[in-house]
Amino acid sequence: MKIRSAKKSDKEEILSFCSNTFEWGDYIDQVWDIWQSDRTGRLLVAESDGSKIAMSHVAVCPDSKSAWLEGVRVHPSYRRSQVASKLIEKMAQYGRKKGGRQASAIVAADNVASQRMMEKNGFEVVSRWAYYSTTATRARRQKSSARLAANSEYRSIWQYLQESKIYSLSAKRYVKSWHWYTLDKKALLDFIKKRRVIVTGRPIEGVAIINRHGYWNKKNILQIIYLDSASARSLRHLISFVANIYLDGKFDRLQVVCHESKSMTFFVEKFMIKEQEQFLLYNKVFTP
Ligand SMILES: CC(C)(COP(=O)(O)OP(=O)(O)OC[C@H]1O[C@@H](n2cnc3c(N)ncnc32)[C@H](O)[C@@H]1OP(=O)(O)O)[C@@H](O)C(=O)NCCC(=O)NCCS
Repeated sequence: MKIRSAKKSDKEEILSFCSNTFEWGDYIDQVWDIWQSDRTGRLLVAESDGSKIAMSHVAVCPDSKSAWLEGVRVHPSYRRSQVASKLIEKMAQYGRKKGGRQASAIVAADNVASQRMMEKNGFEVVSRWAYYSTTATRARRQKSSARLAANSEYRSIWQYLQESKIYSLSAKRYVKSWHWYTLDKKALLDFIKKRRVIVTGRPIEGVAIINRHGYWNKKNILQIIYLDSASARSLRHLISFVANIYLDGKFDRLQVVCHESKSMTFFVEKFMIKEQEQFLLYNKVFTP
């Protein structure tokens, strides 16, 4: 078996076994072209006797210290032959070569095969996340005392996060296009400047970070990509504030991705369910 960079001509054969991977289908057809032209990563294909039998994608995270592993797909006839494990090894090698110190990946909570595969390859669960999606067409505007964070609030928001249990349970990550990246000082400052951080309270009692531009070719989606609150009241105000942006902005869909703690999900579930799923965030620190 040979693992190499993907070519344009691989697409059709690879997609032939990557369309009904899960109950709901698969997303590889939506990302193949994006991944292939991605200069910060590498799209891999595994070939055996002239047949394309597997694929995966690795990307360098914005902090330059981590690699993101995704899209591992092995043709059903070639499973349990260590093909995925070899792809993981190749992706980790790429991450290291680019200066990465660790690698991360996300796995659906019901995907036991993938979880065992990650664990066998030395990854461990560092966080559990919940995803909710709604079209909420009948939602009404809500009163909210939350506000867009001002640049001057940067220090107090950072301080809040340092003391927040949710921040630590979230493995200090936010989500971008289904990649879980480190929410460090630089990322936070950038989000505040771009008017993407919503806060409650003085001193700060809750923080939500939003994305108004969707992901991949799904541009009209409003997302909460990080959610953190010290109380149910503050959470209600954060969600209401975002729901109002959703209603004013004529978005097609509202999605929330947040740490799977009862205190977060209880309220979100009351508000918005059309689809929901749980995910495990895996991480492996490279040995020097
Ligand atoms: C998950 C998947 C990528 C694993 O690919 P694979 O090439 O069969 O995995 P490997 O052969 O490298 O497996 C390594 C280890 O993982 C574990 N494992 C793999 N598949 C497993 C399964 N179905 N059940 C339980 N453990 C499994 C085993 O411990 C295995 O080692 P072993 O065979 O020596 O016992 C493959 O089943 C697949 O393509 N599934 C559909 C797509 C998918 O779920 N991708 C991951 C999305 S996050």
